[in-house]
Amino acid sequence: MTSTSYITTPIYYVNDKPHIGHAYSTLAADVLARWRRLEGKEVFFLTGTDEHGQKVQKAAADAGMDPQAFTDQVSGTFRALSQDMGYSITDFIRTTEPRHKRACQVLWEKLAANGEIYLGHYEGWYAVRDEAFYGPDELTERDGVKYAPSGAPVEWVREPSYFFRLSAWQDRLLAYYEANPDFILPASRRNEVIAFVKSGLGDLSISRTSFTWGVKVPGDEAHVMYVWLDALTNYITAAGYPDDPEAFAKWWPAELHIVGKDILRFHAIYWPAFLMAAGLPVPKRVFAHGWWTVEGQKISKSLGNAIDPRGLVEEFGLDPVRYFLLREVPFGQDGDFSRAALVNRLNGELANALGNLANRTLSLIQRNCGGILPAIAVTTAADSAIVEFAASLPTEVGDHINVQAFHLALEAVFQAVRDANAYITVQAPWALKKTDPERMAVVLRVLHDALRVYATVLQPFMPDTMAKLLAQLGVPEEARGLDHLATPLPAGLPLPVPEPLFKKVEAAA
Ligand code: ME8
Ligand code: MG
Repeated sequence: MTSTSYITTPIYYVNDKPHIGHAYSTLAADVLARWRRLEGKEVFFLTGTDEHGQKVQKAAADAGMDPQAFTDQVSGTFRALSQDMGYSITDFIRTTEPRHKRACQVLWEKLAANGEIYLGHYEGWYAVRDEAFYGPDELTERDGVKYAPSGAPVEWVREPSYFFRLSAWQDRLLAYYEANPDFILPASRRNEVIAFVKSGLGDLSISRTSFTWGVKVPGDEAHVMYVWLDALTNYITAAGYPDDPEAFAKWWPAELHIVGKDILRFHAIYWPAFLMAAGLPVPKRVFAHGWWTVEGQKISKSLGNAIDPRGLVEEFGLDPVRYFLLREVPFGQDGDFSRAALVNRLNGELANALGNLANRTLSLIQRNCGGILPAIAVTTAADSAIVEFAASLPTEVGDHINVQAFHLALEAVFQAVRDANAYITVQAPWALKKTDPERMAVVLRVLHDALRVYATVLQPFMPDTMAKLLAQLGVPEEARGLDHLATPLPAGLPLPVPEPLFKKVEAAA
């Protein structure tokens, strides 16, 4: 295993305010980034905003603003989201930054020098909303308007354009997918991409002349670069391309690009083709997650049903929201956001199962053991079952996280929490104070050690709350990595008075 990891999110269009869909992608990336740090790795975690193109130019015009002023403003709301959601990002890239324009132009020149670009004429359908070209056979027509499969209306475009020789890469892409079966996850999406590539790739229009809000094509300033070539390049810009070769060698290729399923084609086909054509390494993996609806409906501007994640955080607290988004839906599948489901998870799993287990254990240690951590003395099969399950958790959770099965990682931890709750109920340490105080101490120490493991592996998901729990368990801040679990806390350690970790909320009326 390498000692560094580079993890990215999509860079979001600044035509709209952030909603839970955007929050979700970055959250998943954040959990992975935090997990890698727990493993002791050095992590580069990037998010940012995609600020060029026709869509953003139109949004700025609709807002009556200059595009740069407009993008400054909206980009700021995405940056603020990172703060509010507790994302541990190490860089935030904006495609209007000089470092990025330079990277785009150098990449373009490299592609041109390699004979991968030619000047032609584009004529065909374009969806501004998707910033994507579509073939006539992909469209449907309603009331005289043609629509892309995404539901975006398309318009006829006819203009001079530079082309990238994508068709020449078809076989090499297929060979790459074949040789790297984990390059595209989940597997079902990988199969879709392969089928699409096998059906034949045409050359790709990579410049536009009918508007100006973009990175200028070097040597031909009548053209701006196609916004997807510009946007995808962000991943190497931030890693140091082209002016910091040392940083670039350290971070690139990325461990993972997390994207929504809507933009998999760009990341799994165009992006590796551009990189291979420029002689650059291809990222190790692209994971396409599923789509959130809200209370059964598609999130849409016209329905006005987009949920601002910050409103949820204010109402339920940050960690319950983070937990819910990754627990509720298998990562990779579509899911529905409902307040009732969030309230259920918060009350049932966080407050009742985990919160009460911690509170009962730590309160009993306060009350019945003088607030002093008892010695380890595993004696019964029931004790060892809890201890062994806890000991196996870091590996089990890590295995799930390595394939982005965040829901299974959480399921594994909460299975252990359920077992520990069954254990505390059967052992009833509260009844042992008078009858068998030694046994009581054993049970409380077993639970304390198990809670330490649960809290440690849950840190990436619920950083603030698990920091509280680890403090209550007496685990020093510098001893909260996975490695430290091998070293037991000393018996006799004084523990602070515990406080409840989660607040229950009333079920929605
Ligand atoms: O496509 N459910 O930006 P974008 C789940 N700028 N995820 C959702 C979602 C939903 N309902 N809605 C949005 C772009 N997302 C380009 C990307 S990358 C080089 C350029 C998330 O603002 C999901 O990750 O339209 C999706 O892929 C992304 O936001 C699209 O954001
Ligand atoms: Mg979009």
